[in-house]
Order: sequence, then C-alpha cells, then structure tokens
Amino acid sequence: MDAFIWLVVVVIGLLIYWVRSRSDDETIEDCLPPGSMGLPFIGKSVEFAKKKIEFFREGHAKYGKIFKTRLFGKSIIRVYGSENIRTIIQGENKIVQSAYPASVRKLLGEQAISMSHGEIHKTKKRHLMKFLCPEFFANHTPVMAKLMSDRIGTWSTEPAIDLYKEVKNLFIELAARFLINIDLDDDDIAQLRDQLEIFTNNIFCLPVNIPGLGFNKALKARDIMRKMIGEWVTKSKNNNSSNELSSVLQSLLKESGEDADDLTLIDTIIDLLFSSAQTVSSAGCSVGYKLATDADVREKVLDNIREQNLLDTESTIFLNGVTKMSYVTGVVKETLRLLPPVGGAYRTALETFELDGYTIPKGWSISFSIRETHHNDSSLSDVDRFNPDRWLNSNSNNDRYSCIPFGAGSRVCPGQAYANMILKLFAIELTRSCTPTIVKDSEFTSWPLPKPKEQVLVRIGRK
Ligand code: HEM
Repeated sequence: MDAFIWLVVVVIGLLIYWVRSRSDDETIEDCLPPGSMGLPFIGKSVEFAKKKIEFFREGHAKYGKIFKTRLFGKSIIRVYGSENIRTIIQGENKIVQSAYPASVRKLLGEQAISMSHGEIHKTKKRHLMKFLCPEFFANHTPVMAKLMSDRIGTWSTEPAIDLYKEVKNLFIELAARFLINIDLDDDDIAQLRDQLEIFTNNIFCLPVNIPGLGFNKALKARDIMRKMIGEWVTKSKNNNSSNELSSVLQSLLKESGEDADDLTLIDTIIDLLFSSAQTVSSAGCSVGYKLATDADVREKVLDNIREQNLLDTESTIFLNGVTKMSYVTGVVKETLRLLPPVGGAYRTALETFELDGYTIPKGWSISFSIRETHHNDSSLSDVDRFNPDRWLNSNSNNDRYSCIPFGAGSRVCPGQAYANMILKLFAIELTRSCTPTIVKDSEFTSWPLPKPKEQVLVRIGRK
C-alpha cells in the first residue's frame, strides 16, 4: 500500500511538473520572435544550404529585424539593428556568450582565440593586441608598403590581373611574413590561397563528415594546410637560428599549455591565416574594385597623397603620413560598411532575456547581422551610396553600434589596426603608382564573404 501511495505521489508530481513546464513553454512560445522552425532537428538547414545569404535576407524581409529559425539542429535567433547589437555586446558573459556553430568550432579547433573563454581568452587576445601595437606599425609600415609596391609593379607588367586572386596572394604573403614570420614562395602562396578558399567556403555547414559534403571538403583543405605548414615548421626547427616563429605565435602557444604540440602550433597558424588573410583579402578586393571603377574616389585619394608629399613613388611611406590621410581612412571605412567581410557573429543565450520586445530562451543561438545593421542604418543619409566623405565629419554618426565591421566589446577584432593599416597602404600604393581600370567586370556576392561572383580582370596601368 505504501508503495502504491508513493507511486501515486510521484505520478502526480510528474504530471504537475509536465503541466507547469508545458505552460512555461507555451508562455515563452507566445513571446518568441516570429519565424518558422521547419522540420524537427534539421529545421530549415536544407533551405539555408541552398539559399545561403538570401535565406537571411528573405527572413528579414518577411519578419523584420528579428526572427527565429532552426539550422543544423540549433534553434537560432537572427537579428540586426544597433539597439539590439548594443544589448548583445554589452551583455557578453552576462546574458550571452560567444559560441560559434559546431562546424566552425571543429574546423578551427579549441585553441583558437575565438573559441576560447575566460582568462585564457583574455590573455591570448592581450598577446595579439600587444604584438600589433603602435611600435609594430611604426617599424613595419615602410616595409609593408614596399612589398605592396613591388607586387603592384609586377601586376602592371601583365595585360590584366585577376583582382581577387592577386589581392589574396598579396595579403596571404603579408600575413605570413608579418604575423607568423615565414617567407612563402609563390607556389606555397597559391596552394594556401586555394585551400583557404575551400576551407572558408565550407566552414558554415552540417558538421557531418560525409564525402562530397561541405564539412568533408573543409576537413580535406585543413589536412592539406596542416601538411604544408607542418613542413615549414619542421624546416624552421631544423634551421632555428634564422627562422624563429613570430613572438605573437610563441605567446599564443604558451597560453595553449606550456608544451603545446606541433599540431596545436599548426592549427594556431591556420587560425591566424584564416582570420587575417581571408577577411583582409575580401576588403582589399573591394577597395581595389572601387579604385578601378570610380575616378572621383581616385582623385581624392591622390589629393591626400599629395598633401603628404608622397606622390613620388620612390618616397618612403611612414606610419605618420598614413595616419594623416583622412579621406583614405574614409575609403576603407566606407568599404567595410557597405561590404563587411564578416557579415555577422554568433552568441548563445546564457539565460532567458528580452530582445526587441521578444523573449530569447536560455540555450538558444543568436546570430547578429553586421551587414543588415549597416545596410539599414537610418541615421545615415543615402545609406546605400559609397561616400567616404561622410566619415570626414566626426558628427556624422554618433551611434557606436551602427557601424561595427570589427565587432565591439570584449570580442572586438584584435586585428582591426592591422587590417586598417594594410587596406590604407593598399589604397595608397595602388593609386599613386597606377591607374587601375576594369577589363572584365562581375557582380559581387556576400557569401561567405564579399567577393566577385566571377573573375574581375583589372589592368594595372603604370603612370
Ligand atoms: C577587414 C578585416 C577584418 C574584419 C572585417 C574582421 C572582423 C571581425 C569581427 C566582426 C570579429 C568579432 C566577432 C564576434 O563579435 O564574435 C572578429 C574577431 C576576430 N578577429 Fe577579425 N577581422 C578582420 C581582420 C582580422 C585580422 C587581420 C586578424 C588577425 C591579425 C583578426 C583576428 C581576429 C580574431 C582572433 C578574432 C576573435 C576575437 C575574440 O573572439 O575575442 N581579424 N573579426
């Protein structure tokens, strides 16, 4: 009898718990953002895989600034707008935490800065930012500018260059030389460029290793890069007097454990190349394209160069001169506003909270869109127009979350200063030594980052 009473109590208890949790779910359900979750588990993954960026565009067109969906087994909130981004960024480690999709985590590895948390994250990031300090730029600006000028000189001997491909070669070479301290030959650069492209194109996918699917392609690309980089590492160890790895890499490895193994070292190099070369190449291609298509922009860049007495291509470019070129700074900022290389970022809700008037349940993923936030910025006039002059007036935009190509808060991009410097130098060197013109044009796509849909051929006419 006792056992029967206990059974009844347990069953009633479970019933009460079920009814309560159901009514909680229903209350939450009523307050969730609009949107469609699709099929159980896979949700809208198939539609997303087909439409990519259009999937998000259509969602925003249908539901507004915020909507819910399910991708790759995760319930996701997609959101844009500076007010919403402010809530997310300021809520880092309180209501949300950085959390990339499983495919990205598995491909970049837990040692990556973007995957780490807490003290390890802070220390790794501090090392990278300390390395990319004003002294780094003071020391390296003339050398980086010279390397660019030499490359552009080689381009000018060709009838036309494939803009995206050549810009990528250049920025991979720069990242390898200045961030990692390895000199690559042209074959290595070309191989790395192609594998990084496959890796990036497939990094957002269902993390299932089936031949032919995206994850499998990205894993294969990573294996090829691991092998290549492993060979350089062995070479540099055998030759340790002349070819030390850069100090930033050594510091990052220290934070991964005193005796970080070779694989951790190799994956740290892949992470640095992925974060730095792909994003900057996308922006570099966009800057090059703008300079090749807009004579007014070129003229104003030339005015800036003239003001600093740097028109003579033999004159050395120092940090000080670059810093004073405010129109060139505007060109880079406007490019990153209209074609942001990182279209959005990912978080997980640490607790249930409110966003844009809706409930975001604990445990759900949040993807905030940098691109849609820039493109729908109501504080700017003529928001779709490329207008570097808008940044010359410091009052033009007071909302620090409305233009955030490098993110903000504790997860802000540590490579921001490096990327800005490289892009400014590229705009300066391309304009002062040549007049680029388009030979074959193409539309741009924004997925997985902005780049020409097809080849863009540019003639680099020497002045
Ligand atoms: C135009 C070029 C670049 C753009 C637009 C860009 C953009 C971004 C954005 C938006 C984030 C923040 C993501 C978030 O909030 O979760 C980020 C993070 C990061 N970026 Fe960049 N980035 C660029 C170049 C670079 C470079 C050159 C490096 C390396 C030198 C770099 C290394 C990183 C790292 C390590 C993180 C993770 C930071 C963290 O989790 O705390 N990026 N980047």
